[in-house]
Amino acid sequence: MDEAVPHLQVRQLTLQNFRNYDDLHLTFPGGVIAIVGSNGQGKTNIVEAIGYLSTLHSHRVASDIPLIRHDHTSAVIAAEVIRGDRALMVDIQLNTGRANQARINKVAVPRTREILGVLTAITFAPEDLAIVRGDPSERRAFLNDIATQQFPRLSGVMADYDRVLKQRNALLKSAGGARRSNLEAVSATLSVWDEQLVEFGTELMCARNELIVNLAPLVASTYAEIAPHSEPLSLSYDDSLSRSEERPVTYDPDAVRKAFFQALDTKRQQELDRGITLVGPHRDELRLTLGRAPVKGYASHGESWSVALALRLGSYDLLARERATPVLILDDVFAELDTRRRRHLAERVADAPQAFITAAVDEDVPVDLVGCWLEVDKAEVTQRDR
Ligand SMILES: Nc1ncnc2c1ncn2[C@@H]1O[C@H](COP(=O)(O)OP(=O)(O)OP(=O)(O)O)[C@@H](O)[C@H]1O
Ligand SMILES: [Mg+2]
Repeated sequence: MDEAVPHLQVRQLTLQNFRNYDDLHLTFPGGVIAIVGSNGQGKTNIVEAIGYLSTLHSHRVASDIPLIRHDHTSAVIAAEVIRGDRALMVDIQLNTGRANQARINKVAVPRTREILGVLTAITFAPEDLAIVRGDPSERRAFLNDIATQQFPRLSGVMADYDRVLKQRNALLKSAGGARRSNLEAVSATLSVWDEQLVEFGTELMCARNELIVNLAPLVASTYAEIAPHSEPLSLSYDDSLSRSEERPVTYDPDAVRKAFFQALDTKRQQELDRGITLVGPHRDELRLTLGRAPVKGYASHGESWSVALALRLGSYDLLARERATPVLILDDVFAELDTRRRRHLAERVADAPQAFITAAVDEDVPVDLVGCWLEVDKAEVTQRDR
């Protein structure tokens, strides 16, 4: 791996009132860490907390509420993160009823999203089947997570875009029923929002296009290695503009901006009728294709798993190449894979500067690679020999 790119490692983790943990302190070495124990003991909860610090959300649930221990109003995840030869402390307090609060080296940051980029991690988990089989929003969320880990400032652009989108939709809704007669008056107000929607949206679409262009060959080659007998996997960007006649020819910002304005113009009446914004990155789709067929609806169960795995490992490679080698998290996945895919994943694990693997039984981890065994029993974590 390129020496110029630093490696990331979680050296310490503290969980307070997080899931089933009351007050947990763990110290991790580099290399492969196996977290084993019976079902429901708290294995995934540990890696979920690490993943949270990298994306600011759980890989399992949409809301933060389930992360806070029963009968408590806040939870804390704190970690010491090593990046190359530097150590950084990062912590976040999850609160019910008020905003979460994050700190870097014990100094509060104005917005939690400012801790993005401190810890980069890639999690592969059973939930990832949804990226392949679920709604487009699952694939957008996948892209957003990689994009914000690679370029943390994009999370601010996403927040701005979402805010403008909400306000624009509210206006469209309240102007609902507006017919061609008073279209002009409504349009004048709308165009103020259009400007901002296009400004933030263009930046997001250009970033997404670049991400997909960079990700596609990495994901395709990983897929070819783990599923050599399958049709080739390809990724392409199906942005909502390309479904209208105003498709941008290139993704240079000027072309996208122009196409975006034109698409809004074309859709004006339809948007007023329906009360929602019909074009923009919130309607994007990441198209996944195996040979000629879309993955969704056509791929077998095993193929879908391979696609999900390839998406995660390709993302790992992209971050490792362009930013810093991420922490690799594999939650309960070896048991699902056949021999070839297990072997491929084990090779990746062997190369990873730090990897966390959870499993109910020892046999479901690449035993020979493990440097540290942690046993979880009713939220008690103990280190043991193999
Ligand atoms: N907010 C919460 N407060 C208290 N306990 C919780 C909370 N959320 C989850 N739990 C408990 O945490 C446990 C699940 O932990 P986790 O998902 O980490 O299990 P696991 O060891 O990964 O199990 P499996 O092998 O089935 O994947 C469950 O017993 C669940 O009831
Ligand atoms: Mg689990």
